[in-house]
Amino acid sequence: MGNKVTISVIKADVGGLVGHTIVHPRLIERAQEELAKTDLLEDFHVTAVGDDLNLILTHRHGTDSTEIHKLAWNVFEAATEEAKALKLYGAGQDLLSDAFSGNIKGMGPGVAEMEIEERSSEPIIIFMADKTEPGAWNLPLYRMFADPFNTAGLVIDPNMHDGFVFEVHDLKEDKRVHFSCPKDLYDMLVFIGAPSRFVVHSVYRKDEAGSAASIAAQASTQRLSLIAGRYVGKDDPVMIVRCQSGLPAVGEAVEPFSYPHLVAGWMRGSHTGPLMPVGVADATPTRFDGPPRVMALGFQLAEGKLVGPQDMFADVSFEPAREEANRIAGYMRRMGPFEPHRLPLDEMEYTTLSTVMDRMRDRWSPIED
Ligand code: 13P
Ligand code: 13P
Ligand code: MG
Ligand code: MG
Repeated sequence: MGNKVTISVIKADVGGLVGHTIVHPRLIERAQEELAKTDLLEDFHVTAVGDDLNLILTHRHGTDSTEIHKLAWNVFEAATEEAKALKLYGAGQDLLSDAFSGNIKGMGPGVAEMEIEERSSEPIIIFMADKTEPGAWNLPLYRMFADPFNTAGLVIDPNMHDGFVFEVHDLKEDKRVHFSCPKDLYDMLVFIGAPSRFVVHSVYRKDEAGSAASIAAQASTQRLSLIAGRYVGKDDPVMIVRCQSGLPAVGEAVEPFSYPHLVAGWMRGSHTGPLMPVGVADATPTRFDGPPRVMALGFQLAEGKLVGPQDMFADVSFEPAREEANRIAGYMRRMGPFEPHRLPLDEMEYTTLSTVMDRMRDRWSPIED
């Protein structure tokens, strides 16, 4: 039966201090207290990036386990209680329902999960971001698993030379497709270059026949606004990446974030800005509610236990990326309400377009030559 373990990273924004800046320490404590009571888990680590509370759980119940999802839901409800007592901003924001109904996906919180056969050494990195959306992982996942200028192993490691299979989701049409890279690389880029709609959901190692075999990376792809049909905040995403021995080395997995690429989701979920890699202490989006942040915690799994974390982006080697991100943030801000700093009309989380259009209806007239 092997040594199967499931890693579930489940996150929600259940209230911010101040506004949308950080998670109050009391909420983190309460989550830890709740998780310590259960015997469902092998191990857990609670952390936060910006105003998002992240539960990193290991267990033996597989993905989509009702028990595990219910546990996470209950933890978020308990944290919401604390948030309400402290009158934190947007208390309970991401819990779209009053009662748990079997699977936490589609109920507000973001979920990335994978069931794996624990290897003799199992390095994993949990990436967590705030003030952005799931498509923010497209570019870094492409670089980690398909770009030889990022990942030397694609060229020089015989165990990686055949490339990886990407599963891409179309969030608008609710469809999925697999791309086998490097063969399908150019086709894939047509889609994942449009990250508001097409998102990389998972990456797999190939078997001998070139089909998707074992899981290598898994991202959360929920889009709250598409679930709720109204503005409910951005879907600040999480992602699990396995490393080494036929997979990207740890250094290859973090390397894409040395370039702070532009992502959607800053201020009111309606602006574009650079994704700044930060350590836990700096995951405090403040300027114009940002700029968007990404954090990376590394763990070694040992019989399902989380050994770590190592705060990967706290390292000095990411300082130039932070400097660049802050410089780009200033440059973008100067565009104010103009695209592409402000998102296109159909992607904004807030819009006054229809009310302004209604009010202006009689003032528009046809253009005559
Ligand atoms: P692995 O062969 O264990 O993946 O190590 C590669 C490496 O040396 C990392 O830089
Ligand atoms: P969050 O999605 O992180 O709650 O941020 C919402 C927002 O409007 C920030 O300006
Ligand atoms: Mg918030
Ligand atoms: Mg957030």
